[in-house]
Amino acid sequence: MFSIRLRDLSLTHFRCYSSLKLLFEERVIIFTGPNGAGKTNILEAISFLNPGRGLRHAKLSDLIRKDSSSSQREDASLGWIISAHLTLPRGVCQIGTALALSQREEEAEKRVIRMDGNDLSSQSELEKILSVLWMTPAMDRLLSDGPSQRRKLLDKFISSLDPDHSKRLYRYEYAMRERSRLLKEGRNDPLWFATLEEKMALEGIALTASREEMLELLISSMNSHLGSFPRAHLTLKGEVEELLKRHSALEAEEIFKQRLKELRPHDRVSGGASMGPHLSDLEVIHVEKNIPIPLCSTGEQKVLLVSLILAHLRIHALRRKETPLLLLDEGLVHLDTIRRQALFEELENLNVQTFLTGTDTAAFESVQGKAQFFDVQAGEVIRR
Ligand SMILES: Nc1ncnc2c1ncn2[C@@H]1O[C@H](COP(=O)(O)OP(=O)(O)OP(=O)(O)O)[C@@H](O)[C@H]1O
Ligand SMILES: [Mg+2]
Repeated sequence: MFSIRLRDLSLTHFRCYSSLKLLFEERVIIFTGPNGAGKTNILEAISFLNPGRGLRHAKLSDLIRKDSSSSQREDASLGWIISAHLTLPRGVCQIGTALALSQREEEAEKRVIRMDGNDLSSQSELEKILSVLWMTPAMDRLLSDGPSQRRKLLDKFISSLDPDHSKRLYRYEYAMRERSRLLKEGRNDPLWFATLEEKMALEGIALTASREEMLELLISSMNSHLGSFPRAHLTLKGEVEELLKRHSALEAEEIFKQRLKELRPHDRVSGGASMGPHLSDLEVIHVEKNIPIPLCSTGEQKVLLVSLILAHLRIHALRRKETPLLLLDEGLVHLDTIRRQALFEELENLNVQTFLTGTDTAAFESVQGKAQFFDVQAGEVIRR
């Protein structure tokens, strides 16, 4: 198994940083400092080494440093720049990503990505190069809040092993949006509807099968690795899941397509699509306590989330034969001393490079001497 390492990170006009360069020499990197100092901004920058809008799901133009003037920039067509060197199985490589600014307001914001100086054709190429996973305070109640966040977590787990999953999701959602648009416009084009519904059925069944497979892997990883973290029982609930239980994938695809056709009049009134994997819910049960996740305490929910992430990291190591980068923003909050210690031990065994933030250095006592510490104070980052 190859352990991917982030060697350095340079930021230009990104969030509170006008210019910052950091060198990373350890597996565990810790940023501490007061509220608003700029800790999460650094983890957010690392999260942009994967496709999407980063760990805060930010609007790309919001990331431009607010008081920077374009005249100071080396290249006025770039809003912010993130550059990093990584040690990958193929050797050391440089990844750069930036917000390309357009003079025309109607043009959407565009993120450009380069690897060793060459443009990547699409963001999804990044997911093939490396995987970045994160846990943020906004995810503390993810397992008990609305279903869409749980689906997103599951989909992120899958796409970090199979980058094609993101493309399937995109194709499914695109066909669903197109079908909704036709319905809303009152169009009556049976061939067009049939093409879109066929696409939804094809991609939707494939998505659901991948989600079911991931759940099985997570459950068996948690069952075969009994440590300080609890196990979760996970079930995907939805009409498509029920179809796949009773029918082959091909039959399920046919039935799903037929149901979408029947649902057209209903969906025309209600909007959207009233059946499909975009509505599936992930039910989580704390196995040791035998209670559903909404009845668990805040700490129990966080510990169960950590348990899922660790299970995923073990699966990742086996399947991808390389480690992801892990970002734990306020990752130790709600964990007791035993769990904190156990988390560091698990990450050491997995050899995963981990970036953590916290306001309090004392919380990282157990990794003193084994980690690289940075003090962050009002946008100044100093190695301790
Ligand atoms: N585009 C921007 N330009 C300039 N400053 C910004 C921009 N976006 C956010 N900031 C500021 O960056 C500062 C640091 O934010 P960050 O979230 O990294 O803090 P933090 O150290 O993680 O704090 P906490 O401990 O409260 O989580 C905040 O004061 C925030 O307002
Ligand atoms: Mg923060």
